[in-house]
Amino acid sequence: MNSDPGKHILCIGAGYVGGPTMAVIADKCPEYTVTIVDINEQRIEQWQSDSLPIYEPGLNEVVERTRDRNLFFSTDIENAIRAADIIFVSVNTPTKTFGEGAGKAADLQYWEKTARTIARIADSNKVVVEKSTLPLRTARAMERILEANKKGLHFDVLSNPEFLAEGTAINDLNDPDRVLIGSRQTERGLKARQALVDIFAHWVPTEKIITSNVWSAELSKLTANAFLAQRISSINSISALCEKSEADIEEVAAAIGKDRRIGSRFLKASVGFGGSCFKKDILNLVYICEHYGLNEVARYWESVVNLNEFQHRRFVQTMLKTMFNTIAGKRIALFGFAFKADTGDTRESPAIYIARKLVDEHAQVIVTDPEALANAKRDLRDISYAIEFADDPYKAAQDAHAIAVVTEWSEYTALDYQKIFETMQHPAFIFDGRNILDHKALHKIGFNVFPIGKPALKYF
Ligand code: NAD
Ligand code: UDX
Repeated sequence: MNSDPGKHILCIGAGYVGGPTMAVIADKCPEYTVTIVDINEQRIEQWQSDSLPIYEPGLNEVVERTRDRNLFFSTDIENAIRAADIIFVSVNTPTKTFGEGAGKAADLQYWEKTARTIARIADSNKVVVEKSTLPLRTARAMERILEANKKGLHFDVLSNPEFLAEGTAINDLNDPDRVLIGSRQTERGLKARQALVDIFAHWVPTEKIITSNVWSAELSKLTANAFLAQRISSINSISALCEKSEADIEEVAAAIGKDRRIGSRFLKASVGFGGSCFKKDILNLVYICEHYGLNEVARYWESVVNLNEFQHRRFVQTMLKTMFNTIAGKRIALFGFAFKADTGDTRESPAIYIARKLVDEHAQVIVTDPEALANAKRDLRDISYAIEFADDPYKAAQDAHAIAVVTEWSEYTALDYQKIFETMQHPAFIFDGRNILDHKALHKIGFNVFPIGKPALKYF
């Protein structure tokens, strides 16, 4: 283990952010010792095994290179705090489900417990870095808790929000668009900031390391997610209009995306966005706006989430309407359950809503997904009587009346749909919630094809 002063990094929270982020820091900064701790013993055991707790392309290789070299996983939180110079806090900050602000505000109980543990255990000054996504001015609350220590210790709190996306986390970390570090503009604050800049400067070009005050950094994270989600809701709103006319959402997206002021990325119409961040962070933003009496601003951002839920709903309504207004007893195969491709994560996945709605209509749902079946089983535990799981998409589609593509896994574009068609009930339907399949070819095979925001190709 490295014993250089100032070179002990600790990350509290070994999840989708803590694990990959720290693995990449350990990879790029071999002279630092990086320890990741978690209260979840099983998660830590998985990080120490050959079967990591999360699926992320490229992650296994980075962990293999660094683990037990300068990357360590542990449940011994107290000793790890004592040994650390810089502590990243990357615990979960879900939407509150109880009490004041339920359904909107961030639930800060995990985060606050962490701050109190640091204050109680630390026996030397530390730099504490907010890595979790937090409400505006949380760093001030963090400072208050830490400063309440009676040991004369000093803690510098920085905000270093994480912008990685799942499925591309390792690329995003290796080659970020920017790294943002918010600090106090005091001598101590700037010194702490420099300690963090020094870490990222190992591989991130200095012009991409942006510094700001703490509150701007906190708000930038919520704003970035709100803008990204807003783009998806915007294109999805137009997809609904396309389905009422003969316009084609892909043609519209291509045309507007050519305008460099708009840009072409994040304009893929879909069954709606999922994931653990967008909805939670927008609702958090809405709650903060309401707190400051900015009700018009709150309603503006809230509409992004409302539109997304409309898009989920619309997808199921199209299925129901198209299949002669009854799906009771029909077998429907869901191709994909993860909230996006290249991850096993199903948090807030549109698939959860879709599966539940189909079961409400008494359909039998068969779920297939290359990485997310374990999570899907957990998500649908209470309606397991109406759900089957299949590793193999061909098996999932067998005897089905319809296929709904919910996740844009590339393997679904390479299946033999002629073979699939022959094993299905007829008329056979495909609802492509990601517009990834070759709709004309499917129609030629005999499918009735219902894309998002494009004219349906059907035989009746
Ligand atoms: P996660 O649930 O995967 O991981 C959080 C981990 O923290 C869990 O393993 C949990 O056991 C642990 N934890 C909770 N309380 C603890 C405590 N007191 N001590 C030690 N460990 C504790 O969450 P995540 O997806 O990694 O997200 C973490 C934060 O990062 C959130 O604020 C999230 O909004 C933000 N974020 C997430 C993403 C993403 O793509 N998932 C991207 C950017 C930012
Ligand atoms: C997001 C942000 O992109 C990332 O910067 C932040 O740190 C965490 O939240 P993530 O949720 O992991 O990342 O994935 P992202 O690629 O943003 O996709 C979110 C959802 O939007 C997925 O369900 C995806 O399928 C959907 N999406 C994305 C669309 O429907 N259309 C698009 O054009 C892009």
